[in-house]
Amino acid sequence: MARHDEYDLVVRSGSVVLQDGLRNADIGIRAGRIAAVEEGLTNAKQVIDASGKLVLPGCIDPHTHMGIPIKDTWSADDFSSGSVAAAFGGTTTVFDFTVQDPGQTLQASITTRLGRAQGKSQVDFGLHVNITDQPTEHLAEISSLIEKGFNRFKAFTTYKEQGMMMEWPDLRRVMETIGAQGGLLLLHCEDNNSVSSLTARHQIAGHKAPIYHARSRTAEAEALAIEKAAQIAGQSGTRLYIVHISSKLGLQAALRARRQGVEIYLETCPQYLVLDESKYLGKNGHYWIATPPLRRPEDSQALWEAVQDGSIDTIGTDHCPFTKAQKDRHGGAFDLTPNGIPGVENRLAILYTWGVCQGRISLHRMIELLCGNVARIFAIDDRKGSIAVGKDADLVVWDPAPSSLMTAADMHGNADFTPYQGIPQSGGLDCTILRGQPLVRNGAFVGNEVRGNLVLGTE
Ligand code: URP
Ligand code: ZN
Ligand code: ZN
Repeated sequence: MARHDEYDLVVRSGSVVLQDGLRNADIGIRAGRIAAVEEGLTNAKQVIDASGKLVLPGCIDPHTHMGIPIKDTWSADDFSSGSVAAAFGGTTTVFDFTVQDPGQTLQASITTRLGRAQGKSQVDFGLHVNITDQPTEHLAEISSLIEKGFNRFKAFTTYKEQGMMMEWPDLRRVMETIGAQGGLLLLHCEDNNSVSSLTARHQIAGHKAPIYHARSRTAEAEALAIEKAAQIAGQSGTRLYIVHISSKLGLQAALRARRQGVEIYLETCPQYLVLDESKYLGKNGHYWIATPPLRRPEDSQALWEAVQDGSIDTIGTDHCPFTKAQKDRHGGAFDLTPNGIPGVENRLAILYTWGVCQGRISLHRMIELLCGNVARIFAIDDRKGSIAVGKDADLVVWDPAPSSLMTAADMHGNADFTPYQGIPQSGGLDCTILRGQPLVRNGAFVGNEVRGNLVLGTE
């Protein structure tokens, strides 16, 4: 018979990253939760030796796109394959998005999307509620969805031709409603007039090359949309979360709004920190087509500074993978190639290597960006985002010793290339644990049943 003081699992002798610093300790886990963080824990059914290794909270990816329609195809990872890749990247919770079909209520779009995630996702998952069709018809749904824990909504200021754009007057009404109910609006910010006129100009000139993706979707367009959106958010008292900030100009616009008192959270992505638009000029440049585009080195530099000084709140991957065959289908044309790149497996390794090991940020700051801030902003910090007694036992054991180069052959998602090919990596994943159950150990996926649960916000 199990003794009442017995732990289901003890993660032993690691350097544990706690909110107040690093401590050598054991972590005792019972019924999927952290039951003790102290030295010398015994009475364990199972032990994972973490000596010489770091123990981090399970990472939370605020922004993924598993199996969504883009242009004339679908992103290549569904919740099954994408969540396995996430686990190999030290991510134990992903936040994805609903897809609202024309004529669908928001509730129906949630039900459909849940059908694609539940029983398939190996990691816990949340859903941000996309509002892309008839925005103001759905205002009445917003408060009941917030009450049910779907407290985050998403809109686009572009992608008009794909039927996803919200017009500014609609956006104002949606923001007023979300603001009044205490919800959060995630916004993809690019000024659509600018994007469509520059795209048309390059099309008319017969330009096809991938670099015209960057020339059509400019930093100025990002900044203009952020500025307009932040003004409405300020007037309506809405909390705004700008996804995938890619440029110095966009960042500056957001920071101006924050200084003026707008409650605005900022997300960037690893690709905007460590890659630049020169990728579009090299071999298979179209593989790097993602929106927003990769920018110039000075944009990456500005984003790193904002990561360092605390201005950026979160790092999401915007994981939206395609296979080479999908990317190749239109001969690399900048305007037809499906936009999106994989990354759900690379985020922790990139932040650890380029951030912590290269001296840009502390381990503590990395955990804020990848775990704590995401949990707080999305109102799941009662369960997730830090290592503390009572929290879900979502843990990552990270070995600081190895060094390697990132390569597609080592990735676990459905994309057959990685945008980070050949990039140096310091450290490596030893183990990922979701609510006390090991998912990845010694380089192998060991989850023996699908355990990913829907995560709802608590506000
Ligand atoms: O190119 C990207 N990022 N595709 C996914 C959709 C989006 O805008 O985030
Ligand atoms: Zn986007
Ligand atoms: Zn996205």
